[in-house]
Amino acid sequence: MIRLVPMSLPEYQLFVARSAKDYAAEHVRAGTWEAGDALRRAHAELGELLPQGLDTPDHFLRSVWDASGDERVGELWYCFQRAQARPQLFVYWIGIDEKHRRRGFATDVFERLEAVAREAGAHRVALHVFGDNTAAQAFYSRRGYRATNIVMAKDFAR
Ligand SMILES: CC(C)(COP(=O)(O)OP(=O)(O)OC[C@H]1O[C@@H](n2cnc3c(N)ncnc32)[C@H](O)[C@@H]1OP(=O)(O)O)[C@@H](O)C(=O)NCCC(=O)NCCS
Repeated sequence: MIRLVPMSLPEYQLFVARSAKDYAAEHVRAGTWEAGDALRRAHAELGELLPQGLDTPDHFLRSVWDASGDERVGELWYCFQRAQARPQLFVYWIGIDEKHRRRGFATDVFERLEAVAREAGAHRVALHVFGDNTAAQAFYSRRGYRATNIVMAKDFAR
C-alpha cells in the first residue's frame, strides 16, 4: 500500500524548515522552551542530529507514497541507535498529510519499519510523543506500543 522513497534535497530542505518550526512550537506549547529562543534551539538540535543532512550515517529520510506512486502522502525519518548491544530503530518523525489520514498509511509504514528493524537485528522500535498528541498516542497504542518513560509537569501561573 505504500512506497518509501529517499527524500530529494529540496524535499529535505522543506522538511527541515517545517520540522524546526513545528518542533519549536510544540516545545513552546509544552512550556519547555521560551518562544523567543525556540526556533534557534530547534534548528540547533536538528543540526546536531543530522550533521551531514541526508547523508548522515544511520539516518533515513523518506517520502511516503501510495503504492501506485500517484500521491505523496507523508514523511518519515528514522535512525538506528547503536549504544546498546543490539540496536534500536528510533522514529524521529512520521507524518501523514491530513487529507490522507485514517486510511491505514501509518499502519503500513510501521509494518515496514518493524520488518526493517527485525531484519537489522534491532531489539525494538522506539519513539517520543508529546503528552498532548492524543491522536499519535492512540495510533501507537493500537499498534502495541507502550509508554516506557513519562515526564510529568505542573505549570505555575507567572
Ligand atoms: C499519527 C498519524 C501518523 C497516524 O496516521 P494515519 O495514517 O492516519 O494512521 P492509520 O490510518 O494507520 O491509523 C490506524 C489506527 O490508529 C488509530 N488512530 C489513528 N489516528 C487516530 C486519531 N486521530 N484518533 C484516534 N485514533 C487514531 C486508530 O485506531 C486507527 O484505526 P481506524 O482508523 O481503523 O480507527 C497521523 O495522525 C499524523 O500524521 N499525525 C500528525 C503528525 C504526528 O503527530 N506524528 C507523530 C509524531 S510522534
